[in-house]
Amino acid sequence: METSRNPRRVEHQQTDRGYVPVYATGVVEQPWSSYTRTDHEVWDTLYRRQRELLPGRACREFLDGLERFGMGEGGIPKFAELNQVLGKATGWELVAVEGLLPDEVFFDHLANRRFPVSWWIRKPEQLDYLSEPDLFHDLFGHVPLLLNPVFADYMQAYGRGGMKAFGIGPEALMNLTRLYWYTVEFGLINTDEGMRIYGAGIVSSKGESIYCLDAPAPNRIGFGLERVMNTRYRIDTYQQTYFVIDSFEQLFETTRPDFTPIYAKLKQHTAHAAADVLGSDRVFNRGTREGFATDADT
Ligand code: PHE
Ligand code: FE
Repeated sequence: METSRNPRRVEHQQTDRGYVPVYATGVVEQPWSSYTRTDHEVWDTLYRRQRELLPGRACREFLDGLERFGMGEGGIPKFAELNQVLGKATGWELVAVEGLLPDEVFFDHLANRRFPVSWWIRKPEQLDYLSEPDLFHDLFGHVPLLLNPVFADYMQAYGRGGMKAFGIGPEALMNLTRLYWYTVEFGLINTDEGMRIYGAGIVSSKGESIYCLDAPAPNRIGFGLERVMNTRYRIDTYQQTYFVIDSFEQLFETTRPDFTPIYAKLKQHTAHAAADVLGSDRVFNRGTREGFATDADT
């Protein structure tokens, strides 16, 4: 990550929480003027590639969001400018961070309608794959949908739910993380126009944007809350199963109830493998499993 100099740290201290340990928020200032020409070219290249690929693949809400922000090929966007649009629309705010945050810090940001975005961008030789989220994934992948009021509320509810799950225990946290994985990161949505992508992990990847809709190998299965919360996933390959929602309203309403009893129930059950198809599934596509890795998933 030595693309640019280290940005200035701006750590906010909070003093109103008594003896509870206060974690650093991880927030830095986006060191915009230190991006190199190569950094901006990487953004432009990735942006152009996905912008050409995604019409007819990504859902309308995502494509609309991209347009409304005016993200384009003019180099890496300034978070402060995007925040003008975002704040007015849904009250969310982008904050720059170094990278992955501790769970409870991440949840606290979301619960307060702050979305953490890694400030650094991948190298030109990493256009197709990198193992940790960079600016392109975080910004291009996640941020357009934050302009959608229902999705924006879902993300905040997820943050609050995360704080709660964190307090319940590691199994609850794992169940909740699977929900994030199969919706926010790798979700598909069934629209009048056909199956579309809304997951950030997909829209920020050229290969998976094609694979998730066109390949015969993976399962495409109707979304079910407990089904998803009890299903393992792959972090090192394309997904073996994609879960399909009918609408963002459905996602928001289905996840509204208190998860506490669900966490307790799922503790008694072993998780499904990523590639499993169950008798109770609403199957859009039963995958051929061609090319699937056979070792264990997360
Ligand atoms: N309803 C969930 C709970 O009680 C919170 C949540 C909402 C989690 C939306 C994820 C998404 O824990
Ligand atoms: Fe992500």
